[in-house]
This record gives sequence, C-alpha cells and structure tokens, in this order.
Amino acid sequence: MRNKINIAVLVSGGGTNLQALIDARDTVITSGVIKLVVSNNRTAYALKRAEAAGIKSVCITKAEFGGAAGMEAELVRVLVAEKIDLIVLAGFMSILSAGFTKRFEKRIINIHPSLIPSFCGEGYYGLRVHEAALKKGVKVTGATVHFVNEIPDGGEIIMQKAVRVLDGDTPETLQKRVMRLAEWKILPESVEKVSAGILKQEQQR
Ligand code: GAR
Repeated sequence: MRNKINIAVLVSGGGTNLQALIDARDTVITSGVIKLVVSNNRTAYALKRAEAAGIKSVCITKAEFGGAAGMEAELVRVLVAEKIDLIVLAGFMSILSAGFTKRFEKRIINIHPSLIPSFCGEGYYGLRVHEAALKKGVKVTGATVHFVNEIPDGGEIIMQKAVRVLDGDTPETLQKRVMRLAEWKILPESVEKVSAGILKQEQQR
C-alpha cells in the first residue's frame, strides 16, 4: 500500500503558489509528492522554481500543439504517463474543457483569488479579480480552493480564507496580501486534505 499520491501542478506565470507547495513538501503536504510541473507558457518563472526544487517540468503550449484541443490531448498523455492522481491549478490561466474536467472528476483543484461566488467565472483572473473587488468597494475579500468542474470556478469549495481590504489598497497591494495571508496557506492545506482523502479511499477498497 503506497503512502503518497502523485501530484502535478499546472502553472502559467510567476508561480508563487507553486513555491508555497514546494515549501510545504513533507511538512504540510505528507500524503502526496509533487511529481511534475506543467506550464502552458515557455517564459513562466514558475519553471525556474520547479528546476530549483528538482521537480520535472514540461511545457505544453497551445501554439505548439495546434490549439486548445491539441494542448489538452498532450496534457492528458503526460498526466497518464506520469501516473498523476491529483492535478493542482496554481495560477493556470487557461480554461479546461468539459471533457477534460469530466475525465479527472474530483481530481483537479484550483486556487482562485476571491471568496467565491464573488468575482469569479470567465474573465476573472489574476489582477482583474482584485480590480473588480476594489471597484465594488468590498471590505473583505480572500481566496478559495475548489474542485474544478465544467463551470469556470463553479466546482465544490474545499477551503476559503478571508482577508481585509485596507484604505488605499491598489490591485497590486491587495493581490499581494491575499496571496500572503490566504492563498499560500490554504492551497498547501487543501492539497494535503484532498491527497489524504484519495489515499483513504484507496485503503478502503
Ligand atoms: C494567483 O493569485 C492565483 O490565485 C490566480 O493567479 C495568481 C497566480 O499567481 N489565479 C487565478 O486568477 C485563476 N482564476 P502565481 O503564479 O504567483 O501563483
């Protein structure tokens, strides 16, 4: 009976959430091992973080695989070849098809930088989420980790953490605080929770 599942982390940019997962290896995350990092962007700094941590990485871009369908087909091939049990979207800025999310049902989780159901769905990603929160004038925002299904940001919620909006916040200062106080904590905790759940399911079989 194995004691760790295989995790793939999908990224597109800076990869601070990937770094939080790397830093949580063997402390918070004891039920899984980060086996693979996949980027859909060749210049993502996240790739350097993976290399520095000694984690295998691959780059799968829409341009190189003839569009979204080709990119997903290659992604499936790699995930199956690496025997991945859990897919973590950590700042992955591409929406996955209904076919893909169905194939990996309850095996894909995503971090979103707001308290879902506020400021989520298509068009709400990265800094745009914080711009929308400031425009609305909310006094509390935060982050959410959820399972990924066919509805963008619509799957079952796993964890949330609230963060206060301060007078004078800019989208950038708010983004940074939400990352530091919420995202970098609840993502590793959620990865552990879901990984432990998958192991438990296996042991009951
Ligand atoms: C994070 O704030 C993440 O929550 C957000 O993009 C940022 C990526 O930063 N994700 C989304 O908006 C997804 N809808 P990172 O590359 O430094 O982890």
